[in-house]
Amino acid sequence: MSLQAIKYDGQNKTLEILDQLKLPHQSIYVPIRNVQDAFKAIKDMVVRGAPAIAIVAALSLAVELNQEKASFKTTEEAKKAIVDKLDYLVGARPTAVNLGRAANDLKKLVAESSSDVVDKVIKAAEQMLVDDVSDNENIGHYGAEWIMSQVPKSTDRISVLTICNTGSLATAGYGTALGVIRSLHAAGNLEHAYCLETRPYNQGSRLTAYELVHDKIPATLITDSMASSLLRAHPEIKLIVVGADRVAANGDTANKIGTYQLAVVAKHHGVKFVVAAPNTTIDLNTPNGDAIVIEQRAPHELTQVKGAVVEADGTINPDKAATVSTAAPGIGVWNPSFDVTPHELIDAVVTEKRAFTRQPGAAFNFRD
Ligand code: MRU
Repeated sequence: MSLQAIKYDGQNKTLEILDQLKLPHQSIYVPIRNVQDAFKAIKDMVVRGAPAIAIVAALSLAVELNQEKASFKTTEEAKKAIVDKLDYLVGARPTAVNLGRAANDLKKLVAESSSDVVDKVIKAAEQMLVDDVSDNENIGHYGAEWIMSQVPKSTDRISVLTICNTGSLATAGYGTALGVIRSLHAAGNLEHAYCLETRPYNQGSRLTAYELVHDKIPATLITDSMASSLLRAHPEIKLIVVGADRVAANGDTANKIGTYQLAVVAKHHGVKFVVAAPNTTIDLNTPNGDAIVIEQRAPHELTQVKGAVVEADGTINPDKAATVSTAAPGIGVWNPSFDVTPHELIDAVVTEKRAFTRQPGAAFNFRD
């Protein structure tokens, strides 16, 4: 099964995405023919992960513009259509800054272009896919380098805990926090990776576990409620590394619900807590975590579980996918998709450029 979340054919301008709702049991690509398809796929979490949703949105625009470009009579008409489509796409999910950032960058390009605006926008969208993989490899490198500089010289292998899915499936490839784990593994510095199940959507047990198994990285799955016990039982865990959907100017970080509690237990156990994200996830226009809009998702994500049927002989049958209810009907549900970890609990924010740290008691300064 492929680990490529986004398949884009630059020659024919076609886009397909791996249906992440069907993973880990089925690897099925679905076509994205226009911005409506992308909006729905992002909202329904067929594709998810901050960088991946931004890239899919931008590429869906490229696909649609390629089909429509002959019909634009004037540059102004093309410009208006592009801006309208971008405004529409941005409404798909609110918390991750990458989607809004990508849209703003493309709008800026539109505003600055007096000719060939459609071709320029298509080219810029395509470039996002290319840049993301190399950015992630650099994040992985800087993250692994930073954490190994924090442990005694005599320690050459550490274990790591992570949440959600921040790997190839959440990006154009390699991943951010999972990229750091991949880099540690490649350098021979990884003892073991632990991943949280990540309720309610199970991005950890379905997607991260799938990537770790695929890459043959020694790994173990735990439930979200086991993190503090795990740190107590395994002092060789020296790092909790997480991705980000939006990092505010002071370093407060929105990421998958459950991240905040990991930062709290990391502090208690003296384990380093690192955010790994591309520079585009740092939002200098958002002063702190209070200003981040947290997406609320539908109650059924909490009260129902979707899975493949386990046959009597133990084999898993994805064709018989079942949705089962796991909660008392009528119970109220609170289902925020993300939480905000205060910067005081974060030791480093690693981007493709470097590892940012902060003075004790101070906020992060990403303008350095
Ligand atoms: O709801 P999701 O699956 O889109 O949430 C994803 C996360 O929270 C990731 O940690 C974040 O987007 C970073 S992905 C490199």
